Amino acid sequence: MDKLRITGGQRLSGEITVSGAKNAALPILCASLLSADAVTLANVPSLRDIDTTLKLLGQLGVRADRGRNTVTLQADQISSLEAPYELVKTMRASILVLGPLLARFGEARVSLPGGCAIGQRPVDQHIKGLEAMGAEIQIEHGFVIAKASRLKGAIIRTDMVTVTGTENLMMAAALADGETVIENAAREPEIIDLAELLIAMGANISGHGTDRIVIQGVERLHGAEHTIMPDRIETGTFLCAVAATGGDLMLRNTSHHTLGATLDKLREAGLHIEVGDDWIRGTMQGRPKATSFRTSEYPGFPTDMQAQLMALNTLADGTAFIVETIFENRFMHVQELIRLGAQIDIDGNTAVVTGVERLLGARVMATDLRASASLVIAGLAAEGSTEIERIYHLDRGYDRMESKLQAVGAQIERISKDNA
Ligand code: UD1
Repeated sequence: MDKLRITGGQRLSGEITVSGAKNAALPILCASLLSADAVTLANVPSLRDIDTTLKLLGQLGVRADRGRNTVTLQADQISSLEAPYELVKTMRASILVLGPLLARFGEARVSLPGGCAIGQRPVDQHIKGLEAMGAEIQIEHGFVIAKASRLKGAIIRTDMVTVTGTENLMMAAALADGETVIENAAREPEIIDLAELLIAMGANISGHGTDRIVIQGVERLHGAEHTIMPDRIETGTFLCAVAATGGDLMLRNTSHHTLGATLDKLREAGLHIEVGDDWIRGTMQGRPKATSFRTSEYPGFPTDMQAQLMALNTLADGTAFIVETIFENRFMHVQELIRLGAQIDIDGNTAVVTGVERLLGARVMATDLRASASLVIAGLAAEGSTEIERIYHLDRGYDRMESKLQAVGAQIERISKDNA
């Protein structure tokens, strides 16, 4: 397994081009199942989760023609309606094929994702919504087995705000008979990106970006071209890195409109931020200030940025209270940050972080995607050498993170298992 070796203490300075958003790309790739025509996507990031999704779509019979940052998908010869356990267990977002397969082919078998490191993460809301649209769903042998001759429009109110749940139901409703209303819908920018692709394919959707999405089903969808939105979490991660190390970073191909809560907190921590249409510049001098926050659904502070802002807080002047409200077990980075010298106490879903003057490099282990990013940030700021093991988690969601950081002055290298 690859690991990262970081020699901390370098200020970051220069430019980074942010990649396309993982969490927009995954549902959008699955949306190609909704049409027999070609869907061409630009700004597709190079990530392990994208590879996994393309593999899954390939097993279903979708043809993919992949360029450097582009992919053209064509689902005109679907040969299987089953998402197998081997792929779903490595990436929960595989559940996103359920809605499109069921809506277009009247049947789907998707392995139940099961638990994951950051929490239980059930898919009951996806199932409940599809049942409201007339699907017959059974759980058998670890699979969600769904059938419907044609889905019918319905009013669906999810019990909690769910991002992939909203996406699955929006895709299914696009081909359903009649009007579907999703109430308590997620408002994440990635939902808007997916809706824009679906509209380009001929879907009739309004209210995306609000908590009430209205979809008038159509008989068929056609091909389209779409550019994936920039990754707001990658942007936020690099901004936390420069806030922790000091320096001056210009991030290109990003959008400050999707990062309100994150930028507010980083400003509070002392990062000087300037923004333009498609860039954000972060400049940091001196020690960060402690910044308390609680995660919540968009437009609140994203749970996917919690670990990274915690890493920054470990070095801050003062004490921060961090409350995680979305996932029940998303503090696994804490024990690893403590190995670097951080002072953190956990009380239920609250982490109390008392800033220290310096972290000291150590060997640590990545436990999930965003936890890995927090360890990179801490390692960049720590004195001496930090080795991060199990970075396959990082590769799931960050496009060439170490090369992007090297280019702005970080001393970071990947040690492949072959030369370890
Ligand atoms: C998505 C993101 C993930 C992010 C999360 C919250 C993708 C591919 N992943 O994950 O990066 O951290 O949103 O912003 O976009 N829940 C249920 N039943 C359901 C669905 C969800 O109980 O049927 C619960 C979950 O366990 C969790 C909460 O609802 O506690 C929110 O989960 P959800 O928004 O669905 O997260 P994901 O879509 O899996």
